[in-house]
Amino acid sequence: MKRVSLLVLIALLGALIAACGGAPAVQPTAAPGATAAPEQPTTPPAPPSAGATIKIASQSPLSGPQAALGTGIRNGAQLAIEQLAQPLIDLGFTVELAPFDDQARAEVGSANAKNIVSDPEIMCVVGHLNSGVALASLPDYQNASLAMVSPANTNPNITEGGYGVAFRVVGRDDVQGIVGEQFAREELEVESVYIIHDTTAYGQGVAEFFRLAAEENGMEVLGFEGTEEQSDFSAILTPIQAANPDLIYFGGLYPQAGPLFRQARDRGIAAQFLGPDGMDSPELATLAGDAVDGMHYTSVAAPVSQFPNAAQFATDYQAQFNGTATPFSAQAYDAAGICITGIAAAAEAAGGVPTRAQVLEELKGLAGYEGITGDYTFNENGDPNPATYFVLQANVADWNANALITRLEIAPPGSESTTTPPPAATEAEPLVDLIAALGAEVVDLNLGTIKLASQSPLSGPQAALGTGIRNGAELSVEQLNELLADAGVTFELAPFDDQARAEVGSANAKNIVSDPDIMCVVGHLNSGVALASLPDYQNASLAMVSPANTNPNITEGGYGVAFRVVGRDDVQGIVGEQFAREELEVESVYIIHDTTAYGQGVAEFFRLAAEENGMEVLGFEGTEEQSDFSAILTPIQAANPDLIYFGGLYPQAGPLFRQARDRGIAAQFLGPDGMDSPELATLAGDAVDGMHYTSVAAPVSQFPNAAQFATDYQAQFNAAATPFSAQAYDSAAFCVAGILQAAVDAAAAPTRAQVVDAIRGLPTLGGITGDYKFNENGDPEVATYFVLQANIVDWNENLLITRLDIAPPQ
Ligand code: ALA
Repeated sequence: MKRVSLLVLIALLGALIAACGGAPAVQPTAAPGATAAPEQPTTPPAPPSAGATIKIASQSPLSGPQAALGTGIRNGAQLAIEQLAQPLIDLGFTVELAPFDDQARAEVGSANAKNIVSDPEIMCVVGHLNSGVALASLPDYQNASLAMVSPANTNPNITEGGYGVAFRVVGRDDVQGIVGEQFAREELEVESVYIIHDTTAYGQGVAEFFRLAAEENGMEVLGFEGTEEQSDFSAILTPIQAANPDLIYFGGLYPQAGPLFRQARDRGIAAQFLGPDGMDSPELATLAGDAVDGMHYTSVAAPVSQFPNAAQFATDYQAQFNGTATPFSAQAYDAAGICITGIAAAAEAAGGVPTRAQVLEELKGLAGYEGITGDYTFNENGDPNPATYFVLQANVADWNANALITRLEIAPPGSESTTTPPPAATEAEPLVDLIAALGAEVVDLNLGTIKLASQSPLSGPQAALGTGIRNGAELSVEQLNELLADAGVTFELAPFDDQARAEVGSANAKNIVSDPDIMCVVGHLNSGVALASLPDYQNASLAMVSPANTNPNITEGGYGVAFRVVGRDDVQGIVGEQFAREELEVESVYIIHDTTAYGQGVAEFFRLAAEENGMEVLGFEGTEEQSDFSAILTPIQAANPDLIYFGGLYPQAGPLFRQARDRGIAAQFLGPDGMDSPELATLAGDAVDGMHYTSVAAPVSQFPNAAQFATDYQAQFNAAATPFSAQAYDSAAFCVAGILQAAVDAAAAPTRAQVVDAIRGLPTLGGITGDYKFNENGDPEVATYFVLQANIVDWNENLLITRLDIAPPQ
């Protein structure tokens, strides 16, 4: 039986991708059959469909306890029709929304569906809120070949039920349930759960997926009950109180969850609460008050504040409906936009009013629709690939201020992942814009020349990555100096070669801190070298921004001066183990590490996860060997593991893997970000072609905003930008931003301590590798983890298997 572990496991159901590219082009038709009146030659020909009306129906609860979300869905669709219908208007159509109130009841939805299909002007349906209502309505839509695009329905059967007319812009409960269970076990650290559901297709369905995952993973399930109760939950709560679970999971929506959780707290039940996207309404806070403040929930929708491209929508919604846009309303906007795109494409192809079947065909081919909540490409079943899943924490004072805990993009179960890099996040202010603005403010301070140091291996076997780090920092400093030409300040890089050796890094650190012009360090490549140097930086209150160091102690060690733009090995190790078990399907592993803080550390996190999850660990050995691995490989060959995991870097991994293959060891190979160099391919050749590795860096090709950097790097250094070099570029820019911010705050040349404080206080800023805001420890609030597959011919062509954005462990 498979066991799932880690918050992240999820990714393994499929991998993420983000669909890129534009929505299908819809051009106004040239009206092939229309003729202009001869006496009015300058009048454009009438469009072929002049006067025809096209309707898009919405179905959602507009009355009853779920009206808050249901009305938001109707309103979102309404706004889309007002704002996005131009392609249809250009074709001569009048476009209208036909809103239906399904009351969140299956029989009402089904009755409405019969009316909808009998109105020939209705070409597409945006709906429903409730999976059970959608499932009751789909047979009618199916008979009429009428497309339904759902902004909210998560039950797998919506798209798996064979209707052939259903699409959705949200994820599925067979993923969402597991995301929730994983979060509960790994992050909330609960060991027992009492599960309540609302008996609907949705609520019971997601509760069952949660239960399944819990049972597989050893969480004790103390109860599993369905209830249609709306107000008095005492009969349900009495056995829960007696069972005393760590967690109550409610599969359903806020109108029941609110009083359930309120009454649970009021009678002294101390269990944590968790629920799925049915929690995602400010009404939950209204109904339950402080009983739900700080509770976590998973969602497929999320407050609109989570979608940078929905900012205008939020403003327009507020203006038009005099209320805040609700979760799912922006998804309804996108669902309606997708309907319009499909209808317009079908109308254009048909040269007039299309058939419903023609609209359906257009939607089946829809790829790369650029919505306000994401880019959508449907798979053959109508599921978006990928879909986005959230873990959020409720803020009862302001639902839009709910804290984002995790955001995951996951392909639907059973779907192939693709390799398209995700679009860059667009929310944050660009780092360079802040630097330019700060530059204007420091002109009168005449700051003169300020130095940054870099520390990385510039000689020895790790020089390939280390030189990339130095070069990335150098390019950053040069380009920022151009930006700051009139600011009265010039930055200079002082590069140090730490040789990937702790004692060299530490000796350099002493020299660095004794140069008063050095105000920040970009470094190191190796966690062990950084950890040896940090006490000196700490004593001198000198900030270090790391482009590569993943050992948890970098930021957890109490140095107070360390920041990093990458993730951590306590996550990376688990991501790797999860991938090995779920995707590579290995049942046994032999783990080798390089005895360093980094290599041994990540190997230990891998081992811990493997042991927890029943993977057999056949060996765990450290080695400093660089060239002849036969002494290590002999016992490995005897143990015959499914997998060799190497915790370390490519200079050792290359010959290790090469020699393993050469002596006939058939095990799969896996390693962490220390594999992330084309040098691995040079050293090991076809022994590593197609091998997987996790990374916190990834080839620059994975970062859309680093394209210019890659070009500039190639031009300046006559070599391809290496993994970690773009992170070094961002790290140097954070140094510069912190120094300038500190100067502005002090209205003078800042002290090193002021620079540390300033870096810590910077808002979320967009670099070329992502958006970063540092938490109190110096970790990025969200870090990106990759699973990649090596392409030995061109490292930039490495296949992206999974990309995960994960907050640091608490
Ligand atoms: N992430 C690796 C380290 O921290 C390179 O040493």
